[in-house]
Amino acid sequence: MKDKILLVTGAAGFIGANFVKYILSKYVGVKVIILDKLTYAGNIGTITNEIDGDKVVFIKGDIGNQELLDHIFNLYDIDYVVNFAAESHVDRSIENPQLFLQTNILGTQNLLDCTKKAWIKGKDKHGYPIYKEGKKYLQVSTDEVYGSLIKEFETPQTLDILDDDVKNIVKGRKDLKTYGKSFFKETNNLDPRSPYSASKTSADHIVIAYHETYHLPINITRCSNNYGPYHFPEKLIPLIIKNTLEGKSLPVYGKGDNVRDWLYVEDHAKAIDLVLQKGREGEVYNVGGYNEETNINIVKLIIRTIKELMETNPQYHTSLKTDLNQINDSLITYVGDRLGHDMRYAIDPTKIVKELGWYPETPFEDGIRKTVIWYLENQEWVESVVSGDYQKYYDQMYLNR
Ligand SMILES: NC(=O)c1ccc[n+]([C@@H]2O[C@H](COP(=O)([O-])OP(=O)(O)OC[C@H]3O[C@@H](n4cnc5c(N)ncnc54)[C@H](O)[C@@H]3O)[C@@H](O)[C@H]2O)c1
Repeated sequence: MKDKILLVTGAAGFIGANFVKYILSKYVGVKVIILDKLTYAGNIGTITNEIDGDKVVFIKGDIGNQELLDHIFNLYDIDYVVNFAAESHVDRSIENPQLFLQTNILGTQNLLDCTKKAWIKGKDKHGYPIYKEGKKYLQVSTDEVYGSLIKEFETPQTLDILDDDVKNIVKGRKDLKTYGKSFFKETNNLDPRSPYSASKTSADHIVIAYHETYHLPINITRCSNNYGPYHFPEKLIPLIIKNTLEGKSLPVYGKGDNVRDWLYVEDHAKAIDLVLQKGREGEVYNVGGYNEETNINIVKLIIRTIKELMETNPQYHTSLKTDLNQINDSLITYVGDRLGHDMRYAIDPTKIVKELGWYPETPFEDGIRKTVIWYLENQEWVESVVSGDYQKYYDQMYLNR
């Protein structure tokens, strides 16, 4: 990674910002150009400490803006493009699908095109482009492109992992469990069901098309649900933390029995770093740490964690906007289910483990604790990202359902 120049799009958002922080803490000599449109989900405050106008440059703009991208590629000899920029919330895609197609599909295609133009140095005898050395485009995708898995077990069963290398990465974990027998593999058919996942799937197809048709050096990562610091409080985990601290009701879709596979955001950043540097060109890598949990169990775990932290650390009481006694499961309120709500996601990470030696470092309960503590200590960040628009959106999604 030494002396590499990265163009990281969408890095004022949750995962992109965590990725940039991870890269800067791990490597000296890298230069990062951040391109972000600063939608409601992008917050410049998240990366202010990193931006220095020299090693880390921030440019406000749209991945769909060809002129701007050409200008960026002219200014900097970019080595790696990492595309996080996206509309990322399923609920919003149900309200306004078109914006998702605009950014996630057309924006990605524009970014690919500008990248290709900038990196070409000639043609081979068959007419395929030849690219400058050491370049790579990485598309940050999602496990949601695979669709929904069946939830076969109402109560989770112990998970048996057959592969020895994969068994190694989860060694010592007592919480290995699963709600079904099938998992998402890279070879599965893509079967998206929401406007969000359909737009991400289309983007994946176009990325692969640029590899097949123009031999553009690409990788795609498909990760499970992330959680951690700087997560916008419209998503489940930060929303539940925020509402619990305010003593507000905790909205849970349907019966709360949908299963997601959770990964601490830094473990995702580590995977992207590995794939950028060592991933085989043209390959897709699934990223996930065998961490299935139902939404309702997560909500209950967050309530317990906040309560325990408050009881043992009185300094956190300044973040409480309610009486400590009010923090319990009675805050949970079941609301009408999301349309087309996928039942279960579960990643098989065998390929990235065996090929690249990736492994997740943060067990779920530790990660949740770290995340809750981060929110307790960064209330100002939360206040700064929730504007009047957030409140309007929140009322529309959860009140009167
Ligand atoms: N959050 C998850 O659990 C998860 C899991 C797997 C994959 N992903 C994927 O990872 C990526 C990042 O997710 P996130 O949760 O950090 O999203 P996010 O919504 O927090 O951040 C998205 C960022 O992209 C920016 N953006 C949006 N449209 C843009 C445009 N047209 N041009 C430039 N910037 C634009 C926003 O301002 C924001 O900063 C997304 O592509 C998402 O599909 C997310």
